[in-house]
Amino acid sequence: MNELVSAEMPLAVPTGQWGGLELSVVIPTFKERGNIAPLLERLNVALQGIAWEAIFVDDDSPDGTAEFVKSVAAKDLRIRCLRRITRRGLAGACIEGILSSAAPYVAVMDADLQHDENLLPRMLQKLRGGDDLVVGSRYIEGKATAGFSSGRDAISRVATSLAQRLTGVTLTDPMSGFFMLRRAIFDPLAAELSPHGFKILLDIVITARGRFRLSEEPFVFAERLTGKSKLDAQVGLDFLGLLVSKVSGGAVTPRFLSFALVGALGVVVHLTVLRLCLLADMDFALAQTAGTLVSMTGNFFLNNRLTYRDRRLTGWRALRGLLEFMAFSSVGAIANVGIASWLYTFEPVWWVAGIAGAVMGAVWNYSMSNLFVWRVK
Ligand code: GDD
Ligand code: MN
Repeated sequence: MNELVSAEMPLAVPTGQWGGLELSVVIPTFKERGNIAPLLERLNVALQGIAWEAIFVDDDSPDGTAEFVKSVAAKDLRIRCLRRITRRGLAGACIEGILSSAAPYVAVMDADLQHDENLLPRMLQKLRGGDDLVVGSRYIEGKATAGFSSGRDAISRVATSLAQRLTGVTLTDPMSGFFMLRRAIFDPLAAELSPHGFKILLDIVITARGRFRLSEEPFVFAERLTGKSKLDAQVGLDFLGLLVSKVSGGAVTPRFLSFALVGALGVVVHLTVLRLCLLADMDFALAQTAGTLVSMTGNFFLNNRLTYRDRRLTGWRALRGLLEFMAFSSVGAIANVGIASWLYTFEPVWWVAGIAGAVMGAVWNYSMSNLFVWRVK
């Protein structure tokens, strides 16, 4: 270790020269170039009298968002840009942005002007008063959600009530992407947070296990100014995955859950094809083979799209992956039947043996898929 700088010896911190920083506003961006200038103008007005900075975390947007932010940052010390390459994801972007802050308080907000910047000073006031986390909520009484389509609104509400039931978290809007927190309470949690998906706030609150002083502030979710929303049906799956993973204490990972759901769907597909083939007077063995091939192929492509979307196989690799997947699944099926029959001789309860075999087969298929078919390069 360096003799001049040991861990026990605090370094002298130069103070006062440039004035302190109180608030970092972390703004994740993907294809938001047109929203940056108006957002900064609004922040400039709303945050008068507060020592603030804005940290944009851009996942290498093809529209030049990062270049634009940097052109502003070159002229204004309060603006920073973290350009991430080779990875995507709202939650991960927020985590890295917060980790790059040195301010005592950190806010997270969207770049598209849907979050009301006038709430920021009030949130800061509450943190100064001793709160640990203040959430901008879209659902507190009396506040409309102007920027919500009715479909989005319904999904959001169902997700919210599910989250409340399963986790005991009493926030009215746990899916909100607008909040401010004390950095000292975030830093120790960071390593336990999931960088995937959209549900960063819920993840923080669940991981903190009730140790936070929480509060909420209502705001009206505005219409998006320009650009498009990146939230889609995938968000629902991500969310379910996070809940199951947290509730099972990490035993069931979001990826395994997705793999198992696809597998369950495969059983339905298999039985449907089998039935149709039998109705068409096909020989049973042939019909069963057809069902197996169709469901395996379907499962492979669904897993390729959903479960392993971050490692998606294309072209020849997809074909090779499909063959590997079929080979491993066949072994899985043999293991499944073997285990189930063996158990059945000890404990002749059909459904116990059946479920044990199916779980065995699923775990085998999943392990092989992870290790070989969609292996990390
Ligand atoms: N760096 C980065 N990487 N930023 C991203 C990514 C990504 O992969 N995906 C989205 N963003 C940025 C957008 O550019 C925007 O600034 C912000 O994250 C929110 O994304 P939107 O696509 O505008 O989300 P939304 O308005 O549909 O969803 C809102 O509601 C959700 C819950 O219902 C947001 O407030 C979300 O934060 C919230 O979880
Ligand atoms: Mn938005």
